[in-house]
Amino acid sequence: MLRIAIQKSGRLSEESLNLIRECGISFVNSSLKLKTECTNFPLEILFLRDDDIPGYVADGVADIGIVGQNVLVEEGKEELTVEKLGFSKCRLSLAVPKSDEYTSIHDLNGKNIATSYPNLLKAFLDAQGVQAQIHTISGSVEIAPSIGLAEAICDIVSSGSTLISNGLKEVERVFKSEAVLIASPELSPEKRGVLEKLLFRIQAVQRARK
Ligand code: PRP
Ligand code: ZN
Ligand code: MG
Repeated sequence: MLRIAIQKSGRLSEESLNLIRECGISFVNSSLKLKTECTNFPLEILFLRDDDIPGYVADGVADIGIVGQNVLVEEGKEELTVEKLGFSKCRLSLAVPKSDEYTSIHDLNGKNIATSYPNLLKAFLDAQGVQAQIHTISGSVEIAPSIGLAEAICDIVSSGSTLISNGLKEVERVFKSEAVLIASPELSPEKRGVLEKLLFRIQAVQRARK
């Protein structure tokens, strides 16, 4: 039995489940159960916080997982990547209040920036030669400027509607992301065999989608 970790609720959840279903794998999904065994394939699904998935896979608690590259690279675990999945495309961007004048990245020098992605943001700012104070918060980042916590934010943008709803405008793109399949580097030969069967089906689904 191979254990796969997917996001419990969020941008990746539905498309991750759809991919497993399109692989011809059946399971019962009740929103309250955090673990389910598939009925026609040796796969057990764990429903977890996306931020926890790279760590669980690296530690072997889960064998494989589906997670955004944003979370994976932030946590320095991109070497776990097995396959890009082509869905849940988004970007990590810097945003400032809509009414602010913004001419270049250097406007952020000396500013406070709120984000859940301090490592990705710091690497970007360092590369641009910008010095700013990074405030790490775990969610609702878009609220930060309106409550006086920061002058700018750096967060995931997909449709852009969260930014608009919070009176913000996107000013710089820091990182481009999509969903990827990751795997523990230390799978038993049996589990590696199941993973190869699953990968074969995933690749067939991806070819059919093109
Ligand atoms: C991101 C981000 C925003 C939203 C933006 O959250 O933090 O809340 O998506 O999407 P939009 O541009 O379509 O409005 P995410 O789904 O990554 O969840 P998490 O940060 O809670 O893990
Ligand atoms: Zn998250
Ligand atoms: Mg969010």
